[in-house]
Amino acid sequence: MMNPTFLYGTAWKEEETERLTRLAIEAGFRGIDTANQRRHYFEAGVGAAVAKAIADGLLRRDEIFLQTKFTYADGQDHRMPYDPNADVATQVQQSFASSLEHLQVASIDSYVLHGPSQRRGLGAADGEAWRAMESIHRSGRTRHLGISNVALDQLEELMRIAAVPPSFVQNRCFARTRWDRNVRAFCREHGIVYQGFSLLTANARELNHQDFWQIVERLDRTPAQVVFRFALQVGMLPLTGTTDPDHMREDLDIGSFELSGEDLGVIETIAG
Ligand SMILES: NC(=O)c1ccc[n+]([C@@H]2O[C@H](COP(=O)([O-])OP(=O)(O)OC[C@H]3O[C@@H](n4cnc5c(N)ncnc54)[C@H](OP(=O)(O)O)[C@@H]3O)[C@@H](O)[C@H]2O)c1
Repeated sequence: MMNPTFLYGTAWKEEETERLTRLAIEAGFRGIDTANQRRHYFEAGVGAAVAKAIADGLLRRDEIFLQTKFTYADGQDHRMPYDPNADVATQVQQSFASSLEHLQVASIDSYVLHGPSQRRGLGAADGEAWRAMESIHRSGRTRHLGISNVALDQLEELMRIAAVPPSFVQNRCFARTRWDRNVRAFCREHGIVYQGFSLLTANARELNHQDFWQIVERLDRTPAQVVFRFALQVGMLPLTGTTDPDHMREDLDIGSFELSGEDLGVIETIAG
């Protein structure tokens, strides 16, 4: 399938995960983001919703983009999808096998390293994890690899050591860094798709700015629609984890209007 233009995020939904994922599919989302990290995600709930939607004839497997993640032990709680005493490569293999079971599929579209093992630079564990992810990619069980929560220097380093480069970067996107401008520029140069999350929640102050509201009011759209449309026009693949069916429809309905170059400039620099 083609890469989707919007991802439905499934974090923090607990026992509502299956119901909300189903609602998102019904609303029209064709890209789903999850993680094999029970602390924040219920991956098996995502898998149940997708399997049921396919069984019900809502869509075929090849019409939905599925992305999940490998999360190191220090990002997990006691419910780990692997043996924490095993080496990192084994942990990746076990976590991935468990993801396929949870998702009830034979392969996925994107497998993401949830975050580097250290704040600056990459560690030995990251090289090991990436090699294990590459071998999963070579086996045909994921179409793409990705990395999340990554700084520019870490992404540059990954590009140097990777045999299979990332197709995706998934980062929290702050208006005050001009919406992660440096990482986005690097991604653009290297053909990597930038996935932005927390576009609404990380930018509450900026989205109250009167210059932003003028755009919202002139276009007669909601703030969320203007932010997501902005993301799309500057080349991002936005995520939304909304639990509200009206918001789901609102978020998907951003193809029917356009921001001018001037509007984009105002939003790009809204934090100064
Ligand atoms: N890689 C990582 O480390 C990482 C970290 C965090 C998140 N993520 C991914 O990103 C996804 C999205 O997370 P997020 O941090 O961006 O927050 P989010 O879960 O999408 O939260 C958005 C908040 O804004 C509200 N909202 C109001 N109007 C909305 C609208 N029209 N559309 C959407 N939301 C609206 C939502 O409330 P309503 O529910 O009432 O709409 C919700 O409280 C997660 O589910 C996860 O998949 C990844």
